[in-house]
Parts: sequence; structure tokens; C-alpha cells
Amino acid sequence: MIKDHVVYFTEFLKEFQNTGTCFPSSKWAARALTNPMRATRTPQRILELGPGTGVVTVRILKDMIPGDRLTICEINPRFMAALKENLKSNPDYQLHKANISFFEGPAQEIPEDGPYDLIVCALPFLNFDLTTVEEIFSKLQRVSTAHTKMTYYEYIGLRSIGKMVAPAERKQNLKKLDVFFSGMYKRHNMQRERVWLNFLPINIYTLHMAPA
Ligand SMILES: C[S@@+](CC[C@H](N)C(=O)[O-])C[C@H]1O[C@@H](n2cnc3c(N)ncnc32)[C@H](O)[C@@H]1O
Repeated sequence: MIKDHVVYFTEFLKEFQNTGTCFPSSKWAARALTNPMRATRTPQRILELGPGTGVVTVRILKDMIPGDRLTICEINPRFMAALKENLKSNPDYQLHKANISFFEGPAQEIPEDGPYDLIVCALPFLNFDLTTVEEIFSKLQRVSTAHTKMTYYEYIGLRSIGKMVAPAERKQNLKKLDVFFSGMYKRHNMQRERVWLNFLPINIYTLHMAPA
């Protein structure tokens, strides 16, 4: 636990843009992000984007049933190494490891050999420019079916505060992302859940990947 916090803090300093936070998500956040997984008991293909040291991965593993398959995508090799080290001693990982694969690289480049039923995403979209966010969503669209759900989170209020106080270039980018996400919410039947027990509190968004 302390080791994971040290890894986070170091990566936050070295790789702020991709890491986005200096603390891993809470177990309550991890549970809410994986809610759709527990809503169905038939085998699913799951894609996790941005596991960091694995707080959400551990929750996914706990809920996996025989036949589920999990692909884990992480851009940062140091996070990937820490994750694999953590998983070695995880009994749920040992149970399901034949059905788990890793992709070290950007989400934009995951092989299109899905499709996935559920995408659990922890990427810090507000740190990316619009083109990158569009590329990621168009990739996710290509690895989705008519039934795929995607969950991701944003810190409550961060976008609004950023649009008021951030440097001009970031403000501009946040405004563009605002327009992009408003369109996504409408087209993909967005549902929102608030998780207060997290540092900082977050909105968890669920998108139905098939266009409404
Ligand atoms: C906010 S942290 C979330 C970590 C963890 N899932 C949690 O909730 O505490 C974002 C994670 O996304 C990874 N990441 C950022 N950009 C990425 C990309 N384009 N493709 C894959 N992973 C990415 C970062 O390296 C980091 O592990």
C-alpha cells in the first residue's frame, strides 16, 4: 500500500500528464467503476485502461467468473512493472491468469482483436488534447459492440474550476473537451454516479458505446 503510494507520487512528478493524480483511486471508486461487471453473470470480455499499480484491477479480478477474459493496457512501463509485481501474490490473479493479457502502450494502439463487453477506463482525459481524446474514443468505438459499456471518472468540479483559473491554453483545451464530452453524453446515454469516498471525490460516468 505504502509502496504503491510512493510509485504514484514518483510517477505524478515524472509523468504528470499521463498519471493525472498523485493517489490511487479508493476501493469505493474501484467498486463503482466495475459495477456493470456485476450486473451480468455471463462471461464477458473486459478491457482495463490505465491500471496504474492495480487498485481497480484487483477489484476486477475479485469479480471475474470462469470464461471472463481481461486485457490490461498501460502506457507507463514502470506502472506496468509494479502492477505485475503486485499481481504475483494475488490469488484471484493466479486463478484467472490464463485469461488475462497485458498490452504495454497507449490505449490508441491496442490491437483491434476485441470486441469488449466492458471497458473500465481510468485515463486522465482532462490532461489530453482534443485530438488525443478523439483518437482514444474512436479506437474504443472500434473495439465495442452494440452492448458494450464503458466507465470512466473525472474529479468533481475540476473541469469547471480549470475553465476559470487555468492558463489560457489549458482553458481553451478544457472548453473544447467540454463540447466533446457533452456530445458523447447525449449520443451514448450517459449515466453518472458520485463517489465521495475518494481523494478527491469523483463522478463516475457510464457510457453505452452504441450510438443512441
Ligand atoms: C489516473 S491514473 C489511474 C490509475 C488507477 N487505475 C487508479 O484508478 O488509481 C491514470 C493511468 O492511466 C495511464 N495512462 C495514461 N495515458 C494512457 C494511455 N494513453 N494509454 C494507456 N494508459 C494510459 C497512466 O500511466 C496511469 O496508470
